[in-house]
Amino acid sequence: MPTTAIAHSNIALLKYWGKQDGPGNRPDTPSLSITLGALTTTTTVEEADADALQLDGRPVHDAKIERALADWRRDYPIGPLAISSRNDFPTAAGLASSASGFAALATAIDAHCGLRLSDGERSAMARRGSGSAARSIHGGFVALAAPDWRGEAVLAPDAWPLAVVVAITAPEPKAVSSTVGMDRSKATSPYYPAWGATADADFEAMKAAVGQRDFDALGELAEASFLKMHALMLSSRPALIYWRGASVECLRAIRELRADGCRVFATMDAGPQVKAVCVPDDAERVEAVLKDIPGVVRTLRSGLGGGARVADS
Ligand code: PMV
Repeated sequence: MPTTAIAHSNIALLKYWGKQDGPGNRPDTPSLSITLGALTTTTTVEEADADALQLDGRPVHDAKIERALADWRRDYPIGPLAISSRNDFPTAAGLASSASGFAALATAIDAHCGLRLSDGERSAMARRGSGSAARSIHGGFVALAAPDWRGEAVLAPDAWPLAVVVAITAPEPKAVSSTVGMDRSKATSPYYPAWGATADADFEAMKAAVGQRDFDALGELAEASFLKMHALMLSSRPALIYWRGASVECLRAIRELRADGCRVFATMDAGPQVKAVCVPDDAERVEAVLKDIPGVVRTLRSGLGGGARVADS
C-alpha cells in the first residue's frame, strides 16, 4: 500500500544563509518562518525494486533527493522506493519547493517504513535534505535554532492570521541553487562575519515581535533580514543577483502601500519572487497593486497553514 503525505512551503521572515561545516546540514544561524497553507507538495512513496522518482508526473533524477536518501539510510531502515511528488506551485523558483518537498518526503517515509519518529526527529530528517524543510514539519510560525536545529512551533497558524501575496516575476528554476550560493557567500563575502554576529539578536527580537503580535516590529525585522541576506549575496564573488527589475518595482510598491496605510512588508529568498506579508484585510489591495506591475507574470495568495502530515487515504 502506498503512503501519501502533504507538506506546505514556508518562507523565512528571519533568513538563514550559510551552513555549518560537517555532516547534518545544520544552518550557521537561526531562522524563523511562516508556513504557507496554499503552497503544497503531495508526495507518495511505495516499495519498488529500485529507487525511482517522479516530479510533477515526469521521471527525473534529482541529486539532492538521492543524496538525502543515501544519508537517511545510514540511520534508518528504508528500502528501495518509488517516489512520486507534485507541487501545486512553480518548482525551484524561490518558493521553497525543497522545504515542502523534503518535509513531505520525510513524513511519507516515516509513516511508510514505520520509523515512528517524533516531530523533532522528523524535522531533523527533513533538514538533512534541505535546511528550510526542518521548518515545514510545523504550521504557523516556526523557529529553527541551536542547539538542536529542529523546527519548533512558535505560534499556531490561527493564533495570528496573516496573508501572503507572492508576486512571481520569473517562474523558471533559479540559476544558482541555495546550497551553492550560501557556500559561496560564506567563502567570499566580507560581510559574512557581520551576518553571523548579528543573527542571534535579530532572532530574539523577532521571536519577541511574534510573541507580542507586533506587526510593525515584525515587518521591520523581516525586511532588514532579507535585505541583509541579499547584501551577502551581492557581495559574494562572483556576485549572486537573484533580483529582476520587476522585483525592485514590487519592493517600491510595497513601501508606497505602507506609506498609504497598508499593513504590509516584503521578503525575498534566493530567487526573484517578492512575497508581501500583510494583514488579511489588506491582501486584496496588495494583490491588485502587485499584479499590475510590468514583469509580474502572476500572483498567488496564501494564508498560514498547518504542519506536514500523512494524507487521509
Ligand atoms: O532550504 P535551503 O537550504 O535550500 O535554504 C533556504 C534559504 C532561504 O530560503 C534563502 C532562507 C531560509 O531561511 O529559508
